[in-house]
Amino acid sequence: LGGVVKTIAEEDVFTSTAVYVRTAQTYLTRIDDEVVAIWQKCPHLGCRVSWCENSGQFECACHGSYFNRAGEYRSGPAPRGMDRFAVTVNEQGIVAVDTGVVTRGAPPGTETLDEPPRGERCI
Ligand code: FES
Repeated sequence: LGGVVKTIAEEDVFTSTAVYVRTAQTYLTRIDDEVVAIWQKCPHLGCRVSWCENSGQFECACHGSYFNRAGEYRSGPAPRGMDRFAVTVNEQGIVAVDTGVVTRGAPPGTETLDEPPRGERCI
């Protein structure tokens, strides 16, 4: 990590899910018509957080931290929401993730999405 990673077409990123891009250690999703890149690393002790399609949230199997689709904190031992990488979209419509530019996750209590869990948890 530490560089700019080209990923997928912007038009292939949807509000309904999060798509994993291994080369950038990132989940891409769309919020308010903007693509955001959420770092896979759990802000608790660094495990790779999973996306749970069934619940529509991020879930960390290590110690049970839960985050909404925006990576915002829901519950568990994590001290904040998931961190994000800077994103740009080039002229060809490809999303580039700058893994050297990290924005720390918001503190617990931050909830910008009105998306309660939509089903059973995976973990
Ligand atoms: Fe994710 Fe502990 S590392 S909950």
